[in-house]
Amino acid sequence: MNVGIIVYSRTGNTLSIAQSLKSAFEAKGHSAQLERISVEGEIVPNKPVTLKTAPDAAKYDAVILAAPVMAFSLNPVMKAYLQQMGGLSDKKAGCFVTKQLPGNWTGGSRAIKAISAALKEKGASVLGTAIIHWKDEAMREKEAEEAITALAGLF
Ligand SMILES: Cc1cc2nc3c(=O)[nH]c(=O)nc-3n(C[C@H](O)[C@H](O)[C@H](O)COP(=O)(O)O)c2cc1C
Repeated sequence: MNVGIIVYSRTGNTLSIAQSLKSAFEAKGHSAQLERISVEGEIVPNKPVTLKTAPDAAKYDAVILAAPVMAFSLNPVMKAYLQQMGGLSDKKAGCFVTKQLPGNWTGGSRAIKAISAALKEKGASVLGTAIIHWKDEAMREKEAEEAITALAGLF
């Protein structure tokens, strides 16, 4: 299967998991591409975001979307990407977020809900999701490994 991993990452955490996930998909015999969403300038709270690169998710058989949590919510760059994303009828999909604070109530569940809802609205089937908490190294490594194993096995 041709899998697209579409990522927004500001400081590299989400990107590092996405890179490991790409290798895990390839190890299972899939073709996997990692593409980054990028933004013009800095993110300013309550100001609209202008995307510089918005990868086309529709060209893949299956997609994984990944982004960090910001301000107890999905970050505004992925929100902007989801708003402009085209149809994904009959595509398989998954998503994950990274976040700093422990507990899913500090934005993780809400961010996953936002990505999943947008994917479903575009016609995709969301088969799996994951949240990786960054602060504690042991927890991070455990959650990252579990997320990569689960997501790489979705398609
Ligand atoms: C402006 C800003 C707001 C953030 N808000 C939250 C938050 O509400 N909850 C949380 O758990 N982490 C929060 N974080 C931490 C990031 O989600 C975390 O460091 C993430 O792994 C960064 O991913 P990246 O390196 O891919 O950009 C915030 C980070 C920034 C810069």
